[in-house]
Amino acid sequence: MGDLLFRDVTLADGRTGIDVLVQDGRIAGIGPSLPAPAGAELVDGGGQLLSPPFVDAHFHMDATLSYGLPRVNRSGTLLEGIALWGELKPTLTQEAIAERALRYCDWAVARGLLAIRSHVDVCDDRLLAVEALLDVKRRVAPYLDLQLVAFPQDGVLRSPNALANLRRALQMGVDVVGGIPHFERTMADGAESVRLLCELAAEQGRPVDMHCDESDDPLSRHIETLAFHTQRLGLHGRVTGSHLTSMHSMDNYYASKLIPLIAEAGVHAVANPLINITLQGRHDSYPRRRGMTRVPELMAAGVNVAFGHDCVMDPWYSLGSGDMLEVAQMGLHVAQMTSQAQMRACFDAVTVNGAKVLGLAEYGIAVGHPADLVLLQARDPVEAIRLRAARRLVVRRGNVIARSAPATATLQLEGRPAEVDWMLPRC
Ligand code: FE2
Repeated sequence: MGDLLFRDVTLADGRTGIDVLVQDGRIAGIGPSLPAPAGAELVDGGGQLLSPPFVDAHFHMDATLSYGLPRVNRSGTLLEGIALWGELKPTLTQEAIAERALRYCDWAVARGLLAIRSHVDVCDDRLLAVEALLDVKRRVAPYLDLQLVAFPQDGVLRSPNALANLRRALQMGVDVVGGIPHFERTMADGAESVRLLCELAAEQGRPVDMHCDESDDPLSRHIETLAFHTQRLGLHGRVTGSHLTSMHSMDNYYASKLIPLIAEAGVHAVANPLINITLQGRHDSYPRRRGMTRVPELMAAGVNVAFGHDCVMDPWYSLGSGDMLEVAQMGLHVAQMTSQAQMRACFDAVTVNGAKVLGLAEYGIAVGHPADLVLLQARDPVEAIRLRAARRLVVRRGNVIARSAPATATLQLEGRPAEVDWMLPRC
C-alpha cells in the first residue's frame, strides 16, 4: 500500500485548500500545503469535496435486487410488499441471496457507500438469509462494513418461532435486535414486543433497531414505548427507531410531548425518504400525505437523525442504485429542508449521523482515523446533493477501490464546441 496525498480539497466542515495525507492505511496529516513524502501518489483535488464515505443506516440486503420475483407489487403498499416477500421466501436459496447481496455491495462501493446496517428476516425457520448475509458480511469486510439486525418481519409475537429464531440469529453472529411492533396483532402486543426485545438487548448488551410505526395511523405510538424502555433499561444511545412515519400524521400537541422524550432517551431516528414517500399515504385520496417522519423538528430537538435507503429493486421499491445522495436529495425535498444549514444537515444524515447510528468507531476525516474517503465532483455538500456528484475516487483503508470518470458533456451549439460546467460561477 503506497502513500496518497490529496492536494487542495474541500472538507464537509467548510475548510478549503486542504491537503490530506494517507500513510499505512490511516490519515497521517490534514492541513494546507503538506510536504509530499517520497513516492506518494498525488491526487489533485482541484478544490473538490473530500468526504468520509456514505453510510446507509437502514437497508434490507436479503431482499435487494429481487424485483419482479415472483411478481411485482401491484398496489404499491407496504402490506402487499410484505405479502409478496412471504411468497418469495419459500423459494429463496442461500446462494441466490448471497449473489444478489454481493452484487448490491459492488453498486454501493462504486457510489462511495462503505457502511450499511441491513435488517435480515428471521421468520423463516431455515434462517437461510441469516446464513447468507453472515457469509456476505465476512466476504465484503475488507471493503465494506456490513452490520446486521435480526428482524422478525412477520412480528416477534405474531409469527410462531420468531423469538426463538431471533435468539438463534444473535447467537450465529447477527449484531442488533430488531422488531416491528406496528405489525403485531394489537397495540398491546406491539408494546409487549418492544418491552421484551429491549430487555433481550439489555441482557445481551446489544443495540436495538426497530421498524417502528411504519404506518399513517397517527395513533401508532410505539416510539413512545420504545423511548420509555430505552430510559428504563439505561440503553441511551444504543436504540434506533426506524421509519417513525406515523409521526407525520400525529397531532401537533402530542408530537410536542413525544419529541423531547425521544431526545431525552437518546434514541436515534432513521427516516427512509424514498420509501416513505412511495409507500405511505396509499390509503389517502387528496390531500395525500408524504409519510416521512418529522426530520427537521427531531433534529432541532437534538435527536440524531439519519437517512436510510431501505430498499433497492425489491418487493417494496422498484428503483434505486445504492446512491445515498439520491436519498439525501429526496429527504431534503420531502422535509422541505431548503436552507443552507438544512441542506448540509441532509448530507450529514447520509454520512456522520448514520455512522452514529451504526456506532462506527473512528469515522470521519481526522488524523489517526482509517483512510476511508470519497472524492466527489462537487465543491461542497450542497453541490454534491444537487448534482448527485460523481464519486471520482473511493478509498478504503488507504487503498483506491473505485474510480469514476467525471460527469461531463460537450455541447455542439452554434459552431462553438464547449464543455458543460455544472457549477455556479464563484463571485
Ligand atoms: Fe425497512
